[in-house]
Amino acid sequence: MKKHPSITTESGRFFLSDRIREEVNFWVTPQSQGAPPPELQKPVPPGSTLIPLPDRASWSIAPCDLVHAIAHRESRRRFSQTPLALDELAFLLWASQGVRKELHPAAVLRTVPSAGCRHPFETYLAVQRVTGLVPGIYRYLPLQHALVRVGEPDDLPARLSAACHGQGFVGQSAVTFIWTVIPARTEWRYAEGSYKVIAIDAGHVCQNLYLACEAIGAGTCAVAAYRQALVDELVGADGEEEFGMYLAPVGKVVAVP
Ligand SMILES: Cc1cc2nc3c(=O)[nH]c(=O)nc-3n(C[C@H](O)[C@H](O)[C@H](O)COP(=O)(O)O)c2cc1C
Repeated sequence: MKKHPSITTESGRFFLSDRIREEVNFWVTPQSQGAPPPELQKPVPPGSTLIPLPDRASWSIAPCDLVHAIAHRESRRRFSQTPLALDELAFLLWASQGVRKELHPAAVLRTVPSAGCRHPFETYLAVQRVTGLVPGIYRYLPLQHALVRVGEPDDLPARLSAACHGQGFVGQSAVTFIWTVIPARTEWRYAEGSYKVIAIDAGHVCQNLYLACEAIGAGTCAVAAYRQALVDELVGADGEEEFGMYLAPVGKVVAVP
């Protein structure tokens, strides 16, 4: 196997194992040393207008059998031109990152699990076809169940595709979920023991999105092949304290003739 200069087979397998737990001194993590926990959600720039999302009680989403959703889940790379309704988008956001209970000011429980309840992700949306939303880049605010608009890039289809190494189907999505990570949220508790559990956390988020898509006649495809700098630029992440980690283009499925 060709060696990457910074990742060896040994270091990669070490990452996958849990041997780091025997090496981290948990007495000197930021949490153990009394540092305040990082914010649960990236702050909203002053003066921003929040776009409230429909509450769960108002969604017109038909009940979906879980067994059916699991049995039919697959990676879908062909999307129709049909837009997503705003309550459908609200449902997908809730299913993948929604808050289900406030534990205390420093921790909330969500619809997905997260190691140490640290929830290190932010969700950005590259919106192209969602009823009621002007195309552009938005960020989900789980604490308010709202969106904030963060950018209006030109030529979103081309930029999305280029940011994913030319995977054209990403640019054809109605909306692409772009998850960034803020590692400090998990490092506060687990220090160097954070990185494997952050990667595991991301899988839960995307699988819930897959299942929720099945419930609304939509489809998605996990995308981990992306160009770091282009994704970070698209969402305005600094690439150090916050950077892109995973994407999932979503659209209504093309009807089978
Ligand atoms: C972590 C991860 C990364 C992936 N990255 C890509 C990708 O960049 N492009 C793509 O077309 N599919 C990607 N996939 C989708 C897989 O190819 C797909 O899950 C696999 O072929 C099995 O098909 P299924 O999901 O329909 O069962 C990814 C899946 C996972 C879980």
